[in-house]
Amino acid sequence: MSDFLTIASAGAIPRQDIEGLPPELQTYRIETWGCQMNEHDSEKMAGMLQSFGLSPAPNPRTADIVLLNTCSVREKAAEKVFNRLGQLRALKDYRPHMLLGVCGCVAQQEQEHIFERAPWVDLVMGPRRLSSLPDLIRASRERKRVLGVFDARDSLIPEIDAVQRISRTRGYVTVMEGCNKTCTFCIVPFTRGREAYRTPEAILKEVEECVHDGLPEVQLLGQNVNAWRSGAWDFARLLGAVADVSGLSRLRFTTSHPLHFTDRIVDAMAAHPTVCRFLHLPLQSGSDDVLKRMKRGYTARDYRDRIARLRASVPEIALSTDIIVGFPGESEDDFQATLAIVEAIRFDSIYSFIYSPRPGTVAAASDDDVFEGLKKERLHRLQQVQDIIQAERNAQWVDRVVEVLVEGPSSRGGGQLCGRTSQNHPVNFDAEPALVGRTASVRITRASAHSLKGILSEPLTDGGAPNIDRVETAICEGTSGASSPEQGAYHRTGATP
Ligand code: SAH
Ligand code: F3S
Repeated sequence: MSDFLTIASAGAIPRQDIEGLPPELQTYRIETWGCQMNEHDSEKMAGMLQSFGLSPAPNPRTADIVLLNTCSVREKAAEKVFNRLGQLRALKDYRPHMLLGVCGCVAQQEQEHIFERAPWVDLVMGPRRLSSLPDLIRASRERKRVLGVFDARDSLIPEIDAVQRISRTRGYVTVMEGCNKTCTFCIVPFTRGREAYRTPEAILKEVEECVHDGLPEVQLLGQNVNAWRSGAWDFARLLGAVADVSGLSRLRFTTSHPLHFTDRIVDAMAAHPTVCRFLHLPLQSGSDDVLKRMKRGYTARDYRDRIARLRASVPEIALSTDIIVGFPGESEDDFQATLAIVEAIRFDSIYSFIYSPRPGTVAAASDDDVFEGLKKERLHRLQQVQDIIQAERNAQWVDRVVEVLVEGPSSRGGGQLCGRTSQNHPVNFDAEPALVGRTASVRITRASAHSLKGILSEPLTDGGAPNIDRVETAICEGTSGASSPEQGAYHRTGATP
């Protein structure tokens, strides 16, 4: 018999029974790894905790609750969680009242094995159990360990009202959860479950709230975002309706699947300039044979036709993609086909990954036969090809004046600010911090493969600063960085999707 309590389904404890969280829990900290869906889940968890009166702790040493919101898409990402748990063990020994939780995809995937490997963990919660967080926290004070993972009954997305948004410029809005695809390499359908869709009313209401709160940009989120549907609505209609929300300056969405990237979506993008001129469309491989064994459902030609159609209708579009090298059975010819399509399409940025077998996936049952050295070599060759393309594409922006939405201080330091173009290129330039949250015209002066630099061309092109103050938050990147790729297996290029 297990020594932990499993709470089977969302809503197992009626919300009205909850009066508050245990009084010794006053502060929290959330460390986040992985994709934008995880970042946004952390915003929801923080919002829930703050609605119970908790406040953010600046570092884990003073936090009463420490939650790791984890990613398991590749093995190294999952292993980092256990390294971090090892570091946090001493803290837990020193402050026994601290509540330590593992959330996100590793939680769903590993479930009770987390307690076996790290018995000092109090709470394990999968991504589809988010709204149960307060219940699970209370239960973990009464029982020693608590496990909350999804079951077949968790088909709906619970509406979570309290969201503690980290960005001053971008509001994430979930449109759907889960993924019904069965890409043979991917663990996401196992960790995030089957697709569930929010209603257009709920989505539009949240977008309006974002605008009301002064956020100029909204990003619609889903693992398979363009598969969203609701009654007579498809994603193209949703895109148009959100783009028409009064006061919204910019609209982005991620992540799209080529199979669902319909002409109607292309037309909606073309018709609505509010929709940013940027698309992240994962390709994975240029070889039809590999694509077939990945069960992606399209050929390289299909993908190129989609892009051609998009570029014809939205000429100023920038493109990014995901590519996996070293999938089982990938021959040199298969890899050459990937290089060929990358050279033909000329993406503005790519995220490239070394194949990593994931437990329970179809591909994990086949021989991981491309040896590690060759995988690394292919990754390097791909990145070299992309670097040249990217330097050339970025160079085309020099001397042009672009509209950037100013997001905050540049990560490169030096007192500069960083803003993004509609095409999602980060641009660094000198300006006063008061510009954050506003749109500015910037003349691009220098470009490299990985960055654009500019000078302010005109002071301002919008009406005024948004009415939000700096958000106090205890959500931070995992020790190795949110969206953080494993060593060498990631090519952070001009933009994040
Ligand atoms: N549709 C999802 C895909 C999630 S995974 C989304 O929202 O982006 C993100 C990317 O990680 C995938 O597109 C794929 O390129 C890569 N990836 C997924 N599983 C992988 C694996 N087992 N090994 C290496 N890369 C993988
Ligand atoms: Fe994964 Fe394929 Fe879905 S990459 S998230 S199974 S579209």
